[in-house]
Amino acid sequence: MTSVVIGGTGFIGRRLIPRLVGCGEDVVCMDINPGGAAFEAEGDRVKVVRGDVTQFDDVMVLLAEVRPERLINLSYYIGSDLPPRVATKLNVVGMDNCFEAARLTGVRHTVFASSLAVSGAQSHFGERATTEDDFRHGAKQYAWCKIFNEWQAKDYADKYGMTITAVRPANVTGPDKVRGSVDHVNCITRPARGEPVTFPYRDAMRTPIHVDDIAEVFARVAMTDKPAHAIYNSGGTAISLGELAEMVRGFLPDARISFENETGGKEVSSNYLIDNRRLVEEFGMQYVPYRQRVLQIINEVRADAGKPPIADG
Ligand SMILES: NC(=O)c1ccc[n+]([C@@H]2O[C@H](COP(=O)([O-])OP(=O)(O)OC[C@H]3O[C@@H](n4cnc5c(N)ncnc54)[C@H](O)[C@@H]3O)[C@@H](O)[C@H]2O)c1
Repeated sequence: MTSVVIGGTGFIGRRLIPRLVGCGEDVVCMDINPGGAAFEAEGDRVKVVRGDVTQFDDVMVLLAEVRPERLINLSYYIGSDLPPRVATKLNVVGMDNCFEAARLTGVRHTVFASSLAVSGAQSHFGERATTEDDFRHGAKQYAWCKIFNEWQAKDYADKYGMTITAVRPANVTGPDKVRGSVDHVNCITRPARGEPVTFPYRDAMRTPIHVDDIAEVFARVAMTDKPAHAIYNSGGTAISLGELAEMVRGFLPDARISFENETGGKEVSSNYLIDNRRLVEEFGMQYVPYRQRVLQIINEVRADAGKPPIADG
């Protein structure tokens, strides 16, 4: 069977596509930057084409040609600084182009990336974990686009009986992450390169999940024809940047990580306590412990610089 992945040469997509091939899928990847990933190991099981999700014809012609069973849309702008019209075109109309083309071509299961950002600040929920059913307090352009995407999916599902599933990744981490939340990444990669790094608040909270783990989540959800729910929180490891700095120093005692403020930051953090029981119970997801992922990232950066790996313990 065939999956189409839009935005598939990006940070998550380049890890998801090999997993889909591993599940037996042929994959056609459409991206505005087709050179972002090579997929050499997958050979002719993966075809990459250039296309723009904001152009309905690009999406429709591709789906009409390929007739995939599955469509996964990862194309997006991660940030809230776009001019309103550009944000709407890519993040909202782009999503509608995917849903409408999926409807017209009879795609069996459509999956898209939402985000933990829809829930908004942790302060809305006190010290409890947010669930998929909680009110969405997200306040910025990116969060509002994701909130509206979840509504778009529900509207298509209600009116046409389509199966459309949202995965809400938390703060995805990996050595090659350059967009979205990158402070928790830089807290690992800069010291691994021997560079100093400074952050505003020691107590600022994040919920990292490694990119290999979120790629596996997308693969398992996409390969299920009818998931039990329409939305799945990824969850992750709730940790402050200060605690992460200590973890990094456990591997790199000379790491130069500093904070402008030794306290504060927790109260303005995005939601970091996240209930992912749906994902764990339905898909059996278990993540590699975050400490191991931190060491993995350090050693990937060191390998790039020709340095030997650091052993655990
Ligand atoms: N990385 C994270 O921490 C994180 C967290 C929560 C949600 N998400 C969501 O996951 C999805 C994928 O994230 P990512 O980290 O892989 O992002 P990314 O920016 O690395 O990848 C997005 C891909 O979309 C492509 N793209 C952009 N505009 C396009 C267009 N007009 N037409 C076709 N392709 C286009 C880009 O070239 C890129 O390859 C996004 O929807 C993002 O909002 C990511």
